[in-house]
Amino acid sequence: MRHFLTLKDYTKEEILDIISLGLAIKKELKSGNTIRHLSGQTLAMIFEKSSTRTRVSFETGMFQLGGHGLFLSHRDIHLGRGEPVKDTARVISSMCDMVMIRTFEHSKIEEFAAYSSVPVINGLTDSYHPVQLLADYMTMMEHSKAKNPVVAYIGDGNNMTHSWLMLAAKLGFELRVATPKGYEADAAIIAQAQQIAKASGALLRFTHDPKTAVRGATVVTTDTWASMGQEEEKEARLKIFEGFMVDDALMATADPDAIFLHCLPAYRNQEVSESVLEGAQSVVFDEAENRLHAQKGLMVWLNKQQKRQ
Ligand code: CP
Ligand code: NVA
Repeated sequence: MRHFLTLKDYTKEEILDIISLGLAIKKELKSGNTIRHLSGQTLAMIFEKSSTRTRVSFETGMFQLGGHGLFLSHRDIHLGRGEPVKDTARVISSMCDMVMIRTFEHSKIEEFAAYSSVPVINGLTDSYHPVQLLADYMTMMEHSKAKNPVVAYIGDGNNMTHSWLMLAAKLGFELRVATPKGYEADAAIIAQAQQIAKASGALLRFTHDPKTAVRGATVVTTDTWASMGQEEEKEARLKIFEGFMVDDALMATADPDAIFLHCLPAYRNQEVSESVLEGAQSVVFDEAENRLHAQKGLMVWLNKQQKRQ
């Protein structure tokens, strides 16, 4: 059975298939011709962290596909009171057709998946945010003119960085990551991505200088400097990350047709200036909408894999 925990477990062809399916379903929706690909199915959505986009896109997506999404906050289910992950996984997967989880440690979703009898989707862990990257690449396909993408990721070496590393490594494009010293991406994940990149020809570059990363890039992206769970570090990080804001001066050094991506929520005039976020090169709201379409593609794709078993 296939879960969707990281892009590491997927081939280039599979990633592109899922996105193509999402684009086809998007076209159906826009033409008013919605097909109930998942009629009568249920998706359990377990949230141990806040969410706007992930919750709304999965719940709406499931409804549009003819199914139903159950929002399960950790505050309301026994998981939050100490019922073991392996028990929760067996119970929920005995009643639902798919499970989406947003949690802290990546090992928790791995444990859940090991005990689940239905596909488990990662809706963000401390280590990865793979569904976001499906939407991000879909947005690049729609908005970027570049044949050979050069992506510059500026900021914290976090779950988004790790997911960009895996996407670039799998698809074979150039990714330049600029982080402050001490805030680099996880060394073990970098090593895995470098290993995968050998086969795909991806170029993965690392620097502490945002200008070096952005020069000539066709996509510029960033993320919050303090992720969920790091609230207490926020003040300190604001000082440490000075000089890493994506502003007009930095964007001006990218390719003239470069697009700006951000998974959102964005903190204006911290990791990105108000002018860049709201500027002509920013496609962040199309990117957010694409969460809906890309994840519908993913859920239909996973369902097809289930039927093949
Ligand atoms: N980008 C993203 O996952 O947003 P939410 O935290 O609002 O779900
Ligand atoms: N890195 C951020 C992404 C939010 C969608 C976080 O984990 O909080």
